[in-house]
Amino acid sequence: MKKISGQEKVKNILATQTKASKVMKDLGINLSDEDENLALIELALKNKIPLQILLNNLAKNLGMKVEWPKVKGVDEKFIGAYGKSAGSRTGRPADIKKIVAVHSGKGGVGKTFLTIALALYGLQRDKKIGLLDLDIDCPNVYKALGLKGRLIANKNRQIEPLNYRGLKVISMGAVLERENEAIMWRGPILTKAIEQLLYDTAWGELDLLIIDFPPGTGDAPLTLFNMLKPDAVIAVTTATPIALLDTSKTIDMCKQLGVKVAGLVVNMSGDIMGKLSKQEATKKLGVELLASIEMSKKYGGGLNWNEQPDSTLKRKIKAIWKKIFS
Ligand SMILES: Nc1ncnc2c1ncn2[C@@H]1O[C@H](COP(=O)(O)OP(=O)(O)OP(=O)(O)O)[C@@H](O)[C@H]1O
Ligand SMILES: [Mg+2]
Repeated sequence: MKKISGQEKVKNILATQTKASKVMKDLGINLSDEDENLALIELALKNKIPLQILLNNLAKNLGMKVEWPKVKGVDEKFIGAYGKSAGSRTGRPADIKKIVAVHSGKGGVGKTFLTIALALYGLQRDKKIGLLDLDIDCPNVYKALGLKGRLIANKNRQIEPLNYRGLKVISMGAVLERENEAIMWRGPILTKAIEQLLYDTAWGELDLLIIDFPPGTGDAPLTLFNMLKPDAVIAVTTATPIALLDTSKTIDMCKQLGVKVAGLVVNMSGDIMGKLSKQEATKKLGVELLASIEMSKKYGGGLNWNEQPDSTLKRKIKAIWKKIFS
């Protein structure tokens, strides 16, 4: 982290910028610094800069108001993401019948692909489906579904989800000013964001809320699982030894947190990434193999079943669906 030239400069930047990433850039804080958010918060606290301005503006982008926590020993005006209010709400949002999370310890194995496939399958069965993209840094659902809209608040000050053919979608992709903008939130800021996306969204009645996660057992799944226990987690992997190792961590995390794993989906199955039998799934990961989905160029460019029915994939998704609703 570089030295900054004085309180006034910091104050001006914080007062005029709305994005943490821009503020940090203007302050000359190394964006690859692991503790960048913490550094920013500490900087604001040290200089008696109301970090609230910054976070209020972020919230304003979502059309929302932040209620600030009271933290003992800290001047109320100068607190930001610290405090009890981050992650203080827990439990299932009203009117959501089932919550299922798609997870993998490994990146790029098809979590987003499977999440969307399950959601589209549900839509075709006339179910009311919501999709919550909790990959905050790389909100791929927005791009994968070709969404265009922004998240805005309705008259009840709730976030109005985007609509994809009846699917209600919340994704940070709809908050970014430009597609390749980086979101670098950690710790309490991320917790607060997840809490707001989950609880302050106008989901309405849903038969199923399906959640897409970033890879790994980091902030996003831990935060969510501390807020609520989903009815089931679907673990996704490829059959490569490394992906299987990383996915075993998904299963261990769920075990440690008391979250039920409905089963495993092996994606990109075939000659290149390998295959896994039912017996091997039970032996290596201790979970039921729900489906193996072949690697195919049909799945590389996104899913739109209304235009490209794919009976093989549908059959497999149906088997997973049956398990979720059994
Ligand atoms: N069975 C498949 N055959 C071919 N391509 C696939 C298959 N499944 C997914 N893909 C493609 O592989 C890429 C990675 O998939 P996806 O983004 O769903 O993975 P992910 O696990 O969500 O990744 P991340 O960890 O980055 O969130 C995408 O381009 C997707 O369309
Ligand atoms: Mg993804």
